[in-house]
Amino acid sequence: MRFVSLTIDGRQVEVAEGTTVLEAARKLGIEIPTLCYDNDLSIAGACRLCIVEVEGNNKNLPASCALPVAEGMVVHTNSPKVREARKIILELLLANHPLDCLTCEANGRCKLQQYCYEYGVKESRFSGERRHFAIDDNHPFIERDLEKCILCGKCVRVCQEVQGVGAIDYSGRGFDTKVATFMDRSLADSPCVSCGQCIYMCPVGALTAKPSKGKGRDFEVTKVVTTCGYCGVGCQLALNVKDDKIVGVTNVPDSHNQGYLCVKGRFGYEFVDDPERLTTPLIKENGKFREASWEEALDLVAQKFNEIRAKYGPDALAGVSSARVTNEENYLFQKFFRAVIGTNNVDHCARL
Ligand code: FES
Repeated sequence: MRFVSLTIDGRQVEVAEGTTVLEAARKLGIEIPTLCYDNDLSIAGACRLCIVEVEGNNKNLPASCALPVAEGMVVHTNSPKVREARKIILELLLANHPLDCLTCEANGRCKLQQYCYEYGVKESRFSGERRHFAIDDNHPFIERDLEKCILCGKCVRVCQEVQGVGAIDYSGRGFDTKVATFMDRSLADSPCVSCGQCIYMCPVGALTAKPSKGKGRDFEVTKVVTTCGYCGVGCQLALNVKDDKIVGVTNVPDSHNQGYLCVKGRFGYEFVDDPERLTTPLIKENGKFREASWEEALDLVAQKFNEIRAKYGPDALAGVSSARVTNEENYLFQKFFRAVIGTNNVDHCARL
């Protein structure tokens, strides 16, 4: 592998050939603002916010996320020229973006809001026709507000490149460009698998997790990292907790699942506080359930097992285990059936 040496903001760095200027800057701990870039996605170069000044290039300010390093390159990431150009880019984005930050679900985590704050951009000097779209609210979990969309395309790329679903893509040209499903149907009528990665990727408030809407913004919740209990993959996720209630689930980027979740992990949390959730064992007597203690319930199960085994033999019993418990628990389960009950009738829900 060949290495290339360059200077960024007066500091020298050596990186592998093919590295982008953005990645080289990050290696030095220099933060360059980005809206359309993500480590896991292909490069789109759509937002242009990551522009930098390269000495010897008087023609333009290239996008650092798409600019490969070159030997001897001298880069300035925060020069007056770069900052001024970034301000104009932010103003151009604001020209077509509702300024309803106070009630926006993304308030506090919106990157457009963050950069406007950092660059002192309050409003846009570019006035004119604005795009108007109806909110797509038909999907059970995802609300789309295309008037807030900045066309960074991260939702499109994560759906295609990571999930392999391709439920959405760009449609239209120029001013009419928007992110749409095939034939511009509602997201609910698309191949969307409700994984919600698009919400996670969206740098603004164009995509909202409906079950979390109005229940707590990013700065109001405590994030509790835990393991998803729905299957044996054991994805890491962050429960967003407010007032002792789970109000949402967000990604844990540096986890073995790389932050990605399925529909169950991301949206299947409301059962936790469901008033109908079983919290104690129930025993059926005369066709009706009554509450019982764990001791009483387990004694009853043991008694029934013994009765059946004595009357019909151990092979009259069978056990089906679950992917929702740990490997150790599954090991103990099969051990119990083989060594204690005396049968090999053991199976697992993931195989059925
Ligand atoms: Fe480089 Fe958007 S982050 S163009």
